[in-house]
Amino acid sequence: MSLTVTTSSVTYPIIVDDGALETLPARLAEFGLRGRLWLVSDAGVAAQFGEPLAERLRAAGREVQSFVVPSGEASKSPEQLGQLYDWLIGGGVERRDALLALGGGVVGDLAGYAAATVLRGVALVQLPTTLLAMVDSAIGGKTGINHALGKNLIGAFHQPRLVLADTATLTTLPPRELRAGMAEVIKHGVIRDAGLFEELEALAATRGWTDTGRDGFAAWAASDAARAGRLTAIIRRAVAVKVAVVNVDEREEGERITLNYGHTLGHAIEKLAEGWSLLHGEAVAIGMHAAARIAAAMGLCGEDLVERQRALLAAYGLAVAVPDGLDPEAVLATAMRDKKVRAGRIRWVLPTALGHVVVRDDVPEAVVRSALQAV
Ligand code: GLY
Repeated sequence: MSLTVTTSSVTYPIIVDDGALETLPARLAEFGLRGRLWLVSDAGVAAQFGEPLAERLRAAGREVQSFVVPSGEASKSPEQLGQLYDWLIGGGVERRDALLALGGGVVGDLAGYAAATVLRGVALVQLPTTLLAMVDSAIGGKTGINHALGKNLIGAFHQPRLVLADTATLTTLPPRELRAGMAEVIKHGVIRDAGLFEELEALAATRGWTDTGRDGFAAWAASDAARAGRLTAIIRRAVAVKVAVVNVDEREEGERITLNYGHTLGHAIEKLAEGWSLLHGEAVAIGMHAAARIAAAMGLCGEDLVERQRALLAAYGLAVAVPDGLDPEAVLATAMRDKKVRAGRIRWVLPTALGHVVVRDDVPEAVVRSALQAV
């Protein structure tokens, strides 16, 4: 199981460990990052993890500046990016410096894009503190912000020099965010690792979370023993899927689009739901269910797969119904503006069996409509 990204231009490790942040000063030195450090975090993690981390780095003799962005998807905006540029350029950022992105997908994408573009690129270190960022967004170099017409429409590939995921940060992650992150973990099982999917099923069955309500998984994950052991192992396995995909297709010319499973409709639903009221992973869970329904309607997989995936999402507290009031036509129209649309056709990632997906651009709109109506 490799946790090292190796592309034509870069090689970097993804370190997943309980207490990994404590090793950051030594890791930065190991990776030759000796310039000034620009630490970006969000309001949710700044006090708890950002300030102690800055202190640890200063104690190790490093010069550190900090910037805190408001929590939430709305921060992936041109305005927030402009404030980051003001802070970096006003503070005299130099090419040899490094930007540290401490937080979830929003911080990683926003700070990553600032790192990709300021001075035509400075070093980036991803320090994901959410499950979603640990298994997906912090790995593989996608950075960017949203546009009024859709998510992530402005961005750049900029690979980090290092990804350090401290699973201790998950113990204080709000249960809702932990649940949302599980959508991406389950996604990795469906697209490439049936064994991961089965392990998640076995874990949910042993623990009987469904009896303890939506937050059953979160309560378990908040325990020291869980995160240090089985959860960390699951995260590493989900990371391995992401790494394997990026290693064969850094620039999304082929296989990387499979990571988009559930995202075509998920992004559209996320955008249309009032005021970013759904978390990314929550919208992706709905998108995965709709995509599996489309696959079943196209005869690519059986209803059993649709049901098995729905049951696993539910076991980790994820709902699969489109929010009330969302018009399927508006969802479809928004999905058509997705950047993965090619020659006016949506490229759908659809499951054929657990651990296997295909990419199809010939799904009739009527099939999509009826899948959306059914969820
Ligand atoms: N999150 C999808 C990708 O990195 O390609």
